[in-house]
Amino acid sequence: MKKRSRASAPAKVILVGEHFVVHGEPAIVLAIDIRATVTAEMRPEPGIHIESENLGVSGLFKGGEFIPERGGLEAKRDLEPIHAVAAEIISGCHLKNGVGINVSSPIPVAAGLGSSAAVSVASAAALCSLLGREVSSDEIFRIAFNAERIVHGNPSGIDPAISTYGGILWYRRSEAIRRLEFDIDLPLVIGNTGRRRSTGDLVAKVGMLRSRYPDIIDNVIRAGGEIVKRSIQALKEEDLESLGELMNIDHELLCAVGVSCEELERLVHAARKAGAYGAKLTGAGGGGCMIALAPPEKLGKVADAIRRAGGDPIITRKTDVGVVIEE
Ligand code: PMV
Repeated sequence: MKKRSRASAPAKVILVGEHFVVHGEPAIVLAIDIRATVTAEMRPEPGIHIESENLGVSGLFKGGEFIPERGGLEAKRDLEPIHAVAAEIISGCHLKNGVGINVSSPIPVAAGLGSSAAVSVASAAALCSLLGREVSSDEIFRIAFNAERIVHGNPSGIDPAISTYGGILWYRRSEAIRRLEFDIDLPLVIGNTGRRRSTGDLVAKVGMLRSRYPDIIDNVIRAGGEIVKRSIQALKEEDLESLGELMNIDHELLCAVGVSCEELERLVHAARKAGAYGAKLTGAGGGGCMIALAPPEKLGKVADAIRRAGGDPIITRKTDVGVVIEE
């Protein structure tokens, strides 16, 4: 058995299709090159000790109890998904000692970038490697997805899938998650509004609008599905200009169903004005993040424009690298 092991997994953005995916249409999700890193090591004392550097919380899970160290009892909520991953992996071993898990992640939390899933996936990989358990990517996905289910109720599974496999995924509720093999560079700027929001509330808001105006909203949803199909075509043809245009239309449809907000509008318009091919909110909306697809030489200018408009910019690109055991 190793003394220590380290693994990393990427964050995600939804390129197109959020919200309409809840109503049966497809969505395209990308892994981006911002990674959560998890180090797991053996500890002489029993129990699972977890520390998250970025959240500034730590504590020990031992015999069904949580003993907080930093962040008080509330730390339990943040650390629970990692504990669920660790508990499942350890339940199959006869460990006499304990394990320590350290999370280091630059992925903004509660911003729609899949930070929790990236941490769960990296934790599963680091722990399996520490305990000498040979696991496939499918098994890592399964463990991380189970943990997300325990903690977040009924998630779609797209977040742990993209963090595990990387690249570009096609997701539709009625179909299996599919990896799309496009060897294309997608230079992006993420703009974080810094405004926290609840995915559940925003999904419910769209649902309510649909039930009040089914004839209108059903057409918007269908148009959202068409955008995803046309975006696949643009990706195939490596036509970033059309992809940007489709992202712009998608954003306006998302406005129509009421999930944009003033902060997102400011960032989206600033990015377009600074020369992005296209810009839209990503994820649930109502705050959180937007993305801009831009020519590589304009990334800096778009990032500056987002900053001036009150957002926190991150220049990033699509990555094909999913979960990796680094040590
Ligand atoms: O912002 P996120 O990563 O929670 O994404 C939400 C995406 C939605 O389509 C709005 C909801 C869903 O379950 O697909």
